[in-house]
Amino acid sequence: MSSSALVRLADLDGSAPFPLPELSSATGIPLHQADEPCEFLLFYHNGSLWIRQMSEPAVGAIRVDFEDEALYYRQRRQTQPEALLKAAGLKQEQGIPVVDATAGLGLDAFLLASAGCQVTLFERSPILHALLNDGLRRAADSEEARVREVASRMHLQLGDSIAGMPALSPRPDLVYLDPMFPQRRKTAKVKKHMLLLQQLLHGQQGEAEEQLLATALACATRRVVVKRPRLASPLAGRKPSHSLEGKSSRFDVYTGLHPARDLRA
Ligand SMILES: C[S@@+](CC[C@H](N)C(=O)[O-])C[C@H]1O[C@@H](n2cnc3c(N)ncnc32)[C@H](O)[C@@H]1O
Repeated sequence: MSSSALVRLADLDGSAPFPLPELSSATGIPLHQADEPCEFLLFYHNGSLWIRQMSEPAVGAIRVDFEDEALYYRQRRQTQPEALLKAAGLKQEQGIPVVDATAGLGLDAFLLASAGCQVTLFERSPILHALLNDGLRRAADSEEARVREVASRMHLQLGDSIAGMPALSPRPDLVYLDPMFPQRRKTAKVKKHMLLLQQLLHGQQGEAEEQLLATALACATRRVVVKRPRLASPLAGRKPSHSLEGKSSRFDVYTGLHPARDLRA
């Protein structure tokens, strides 16, 4: 969140599963006062946590929804997620430890967990973390067994992955990085949502990229995968071992890492 983004917290219909002041002190987001103007409202409605940009009513609100049809389709189809999973080099192994060091809305982490990985998700924005935590809480109670099962392999941590990754035991086989919400024009609804998140996190984008990549390369035992806009330069200017092109994204793959080094020693 940019230091200037004014975010407030509310419970619009009394459906919050926890007392609101608890979430307020956990996230540092003040409770919304009646008639108080704000840029973003983080709110409970119908038992879900949502975020809305007040100046963009047409965009609507965003929540994390692992039961979403479009995500189910992505989970099953053969193109984009295939590119991510191919880049991840996943074979038939189940339960391999993976870190998603830039969790965002958790969509890519969900796809990795769908492929059988045990995924630790780091998210440093308390707002995105709260949205993800709420999505995972609902997924754990889902009526769909496949959603409950995948969510049980997703382990969310609040905080900067640069600090958090080296403390993990066992070390992850794979670290996945997707640090930037790509610049997009306002066209489809999903792209407007991207814009909302970009504006919410404005000022944090592109921070400490070199350190993030260096930490990922030091922690992963097998490979690091970085999602980039298709035509962008590699993260931190560091040339990957190879790349896989998706429709709008590219996955840069770094191999030849240091499986034996104990980072906690
Ligand atoms: C483009 S989004 C990731 C989208 C995600 N791949 C998805 O499928 O929804 C980038 C996210 O990474 C987070 N982030 C960036 N650097 C981070 C870091 N060093 N530690 C933890 N979170 C980070 C940002 O707060 C943002 O929410």
